[in-house]
Amino acid sequence: MSNVPSIEDVDVAGKTVLVRADLNVPMDDGRVTDTVRIDRFAPTATFLADKGARVVVVSHFGRPEGVRNPAMTLEPVSKALAKSLGRDVKFAEDCVGEVAEKAVWAMKDGDVVMLENLRFHTEETDNSEVFAQRLAVFSDIFVNDAFSCTHRAHASTHAITKQLPSYAGLSLKKELDALSAVLGTPQRPIAALVGGAKVSSKITVLEALIPTMDAIIVGGGMANTFLLAKGYPIGGSLAEPDFVDMANQIMATADKYGCEIVLPVDLVVAEKFAADANNETVPVGQDPGAGMILDVGADSIADLTGRLSSLKTLLWNGPLGAFEMNPFGDGTFAVAKAAADLTKQGKLVTVAGGGDTVAALNQAGVSDDFTYISTAGGAFLEWLEGKELPGVAALTDQN
Ligand code: 3PG
Ligand code: MG
Repeated sequence: MSNVPSIEDVDVAGKTVLVRADLNVPMDDGRVTDTVRIDRFAPTATFLADKGARVVVVSHFGRPEGVRNPAMTLEPVSKALAKSLGRDVKFAEDCVGEVAEKAVWAMKDGDVVMLENLRFHTEETDNSEVFAQRLAVFSDIFVNDAFSCTHRAHASTHAITKQLPSYAGLSLKKELDALSAVLGTPQRPIAALVGGAKVSSKITVLEALIPTMDAIIVGGGMANTFLLAKGYPIGGSLAEPDFVDMANQIMATADKYGCEIVLPVDLVVAEKFAADANNETVPVGQDPGAGMILDVGADSIADLTGRLSSLKTLLWNGPLGAFEMNPFGDGTFAVAKAAADLTKQGKLVTVAGGGDTVAALNQAGVSDDFTYISTAGGAFLEWLEGKELPGVAALTDQN
């Protein structure tokens, strides 16, 4: 269990509570296309409003870098939040100053107001103390409910905690508890499946995981660099030849810790990087010619699903293949389904997160069956790397 102070232990009735959410949601043409982050935040807003708090929601959207960019307004998100909460959400066109203050002073107990994009002010990402004071001026309590922003030391995640008594919201608490259950005292054997395009972006993750994991399953484009390091031909596949030494070093370190590095045993190879490109499956070691490796093959799927059945815990970050192009998601989807089945049977604890991972697991149709899926990108990776998350540290370090 995490030791952050929780909002559940505080009397919030009649108080104005400034809540940092991560409502940086996918949008298309001013319409919210995926409400997962909104729906996960909703219980915290409802909890506070039901207790009679005045709930002031703040978030960033995109990276406007201090420019009031109308394409990055949170107004459409406030409407989606209202829908998710089933209650009125008023929107204020600035997050500080007169406009924000007026909106907040007009609130009654149980009301919810959402303020405009924090990043319309550069002081937010500068972690400005003055900006934090301007946010704090109309609030009694601060609640952070945005795990996916805790890797940022920004005014609304960090400096603000010096201005107001600060607590974790329900979803932040849940996320920290789920994550610490995996890397804190995991049930063994435990393996991590680490996929994605580049070894270079996952080196620190791999290095941090080796001492804890019994095995690391390497997938996606980064597996190609490991195959190259082992002297196998990879044809015209994407790889990072400059990181072959690093891959060798990672394998040597893993060996020292008794952590098995699991690579594919066969590969789906296509003539080009395109959906429905002609493809064939070749065993590792066979020269794919000009072909590109875009997924793991059936033998790899069988190998991996076999391994899953002897595990107690699986941590998942990154896809096994180019899942966004049909049929190169087959490997990822088949292994995700096997992991989900074992989870449903109570045999496996599955925790996943990071950028592409959520999309891949959604497409596999297993999102509801994993033990926990984090919607965080950067914060999830930094947590995997064992780094201190400034937004979490700021909550625990208050006296
Ligand atoms: C995310 O979507 O990863 C979070 O909202 C953080 O956004 P950022 O990377 O722009 O800080
Ligand atoms: Mg990000």
